[in-house]
Amino acid sequence: MEFIKLRLPPRFLLKHALFRVRKAFRGGDDYDWSNYPDHYRAEVRAGRKWYNEDLHSTDWKLQDGRIFIAADETPLHPTHRNVWEAVVNLTPSSVSEVGMGGGRFLAGLRELLGPGVELRGYDVEAKQLELFHELYPAAAATIPSSVLDITLSPLPKMTEVVFASTVLMHIRRPDAYRQALRNLMRSASRAVVLMDNYTTHDYLADLTSEAGPDALYVYDTGRAVSIVVSLGGALDLPYKPLTSASQLR
Ligand SMILES: C[S@@+](CC[C@H](N)C(=O)[O-])C[C@H]1O[C@@H](n2cnc3c(N)ncnc32)[C@H](O)[C@@H]1O
Repeated sequence: MEFIKLRLPPRFLLKHALFRVRKAFRGGDDYDWSNYPDHYRAEVRAGRKWYNEDLHSTDWKLQDGRIFIAADETPLHPTHRNVWEAVVNLTPSSVSEVGMGGGRFLAGLRELLGPGVELRGYDVEAKQLELFHELYPAAAATIPSSVLDITLSPLPKMTEVVFASTVLMHIRRPDAYRQALRNLMRSASRAVVLMDNYTTHDYLADLTSEAGPDALYVYDTGRAVSIVVSLGGALDLPYKPLTSASQLR
């Protein structure tokens, strides 16, 4: 099996080593978020060799809620495809992303949902928002983005759907993680979509206590699973009720 190798700059490695020593004593999230953008840039650079992250320059179509790309295109990352489809199938008129990083999901949603849907992005680190403008200038011109710490407050403007991909799994402070879950729920009128490594927290138990068991669904593409918390009543297929942690493999 081949692994994607990251070329991390020495300044990241040095600061991260010091951060890990401090974290061993004081605890904290997986990263010092002000240092993380160097890591994220390296991830994006490496990931783009293997996966297609930019739907604007891709031959794609949406059919029956599934994204299809031309056979000779570089494949989509399974989790990116899942998040995009999980959001698109909700047919929202407004969507926000929390922990947007360089904005690949929002830029893709602009392509998939068209110009009429309101999109917004938030991240705790301003350098990530700068990267969004650098990587996707056309999308960034139509998608407002601002600094926000989801562990401290809900979004300033509620949207129908709010999603976060690989954000909560890195928030390792138990109270901050629970507050982030709560703030996500308070920020959406219809649904919250989460994509994470589900071994990092007890998502099923925590979401059941925040939203109730009947609100929980999964969107499963066979290669990735997102959690969909419905705040506006029952969902039909392609969403399936989340009843067991084994569905979050
Ligand atoms: C692993 S990256 C994922 C970025 C993006 N979702 C993606 O997949 O491309 C996690 C992102 O969450 C942001 N983040 C971490 N803690 C946050 C918080 N408390 N509130 C908002 N964003 C946060 C980080 O700055 C980083 O951009």
